[in-house]
Amino acid sequence: MNYKIAVVAGDGIGPEVMEQNILVLNEIGKKFGHTFEYTHVLGGGCAIDKFGEPLPQETIDVCKASDSVLLGAVGGWQWDTLPGDKRPERALLGLRGALGLYANLRPATLHDALKDACPLKPELVKNGVDIMVVRELTGGMYFGEKGRKQTDMGEAAYDVEQYSEKEVERITRKAFEIARKRNKHVTNVDKQNVLESSRLWRSVVLEVAKDYPDVELDHLYVDNASMQLIMRPTTFDVIVTGNIFGDILSDEASQMTGSIGMLPSASLGEGSLGMYEPVHGSAPDIAGKDIANPIATILSGAMMLKYSFGLLDEAKCIEDAVTKVLDDGYRTGDIMSDGMKQVGCKEMGKLIIERL
Ligand code: IPM
Ligand code: MN
Repeated sequence: MNYKIAVVAGDGIGPEVMEQNILVLNEIGKKFGHTFEYTHVLGGGCAIDKFGEPLPQETIDVCKASDSVLLGAVGGWQWDTLPGDKRPERALLGLRGALGLYANLRPATLHDALKDACPLKPELVKNGVDIMVVRELTGGMYFGEKGRKQTDMGEAAYDVEQYSEKEVERITRKAFEIARKRNKHVTNVDKQNVLESSRLWRSVVLEVAKDYPDVELDHLYVDNASMQLIMRPTTFDVIVTGNIFGDILSDEASQMTGSIGMLPSASLGEGSLGMYEPVHGSAPDIAGKDIANPIATILSGAMMLKYSFGLLDEAKCIEDAVTKVLDDGYRTGDIMSDGMKQVGCKEMGKLIIERL
């Protein structure tokens, strides 16, 4: 098969981790008889520098016309003082919105070999961490009305947290469907003791749950959830939550895996088109030094093969190669521990390719 892939490598370490991802995918193509055709487009700070805007229409058009999108990372200190709608992050949010990618899957798994890199006490993670955070991605305060106004306390600013029944229903169904293929346990995270939007959210989750009697459902307030994640990480399976809560909890969950450099993500909508990106940011401080961890991006490539193209064996091949490389003792700086062999970004990519 031939697949058309739009590549938004972006800023900072984005291009260097993406380079390794593409090398891995090309090797998979060779091995399994697929061709991947890449169209590189600009998004984020590099697009601001070239076109004066973070998300040019051409980038949206190319992404829409592709079978899937790979994204590196966007942002950097150069663009930090720009107004909200001109910032590099607009590229990410704009693509999520334009492509209708409302479901963000962030799997946090702790590889056995990385137990030393996990900051939690060994006894807390000895049963293995395997959490799928299902984050709503095109609603909530990220996309709600925002603005400024004068008040008697001075200037005020607001971002409206709003969720509709349909928005909650479709993300909840995604979470239950995923749970059915895993350990059949969904934890809903909201703040229904305080927020009206969470009260609607919870009532829709309870309604949808009736269609999945085989899946266990429980609920946590977000403050409590952030605590329980640290206290009993091995007891979670699928977490379903809104945009802002999911943003925060997925960074927290990333630490269970040893480093945010290990966490891939998939953003999905109704069709097979998805966008795949590491959860980490552009890390401008280490950009261009060949020390970034490419594993999160390479695992995002594996998620693309699985969720957009249905290539399960190919995806597993990449995941197994990553496990092998870690078992063989190779580490980038972010997951380094005593007695291991430290390697750079390019070398890590090469070692993974050798194990495909
Ligand atoms: C993420 C990032 C983005 C988000 C930023 C860069 C806009 O933190 O993908 O988690 O908040 O969604
Ligand atoms: Mn985030």
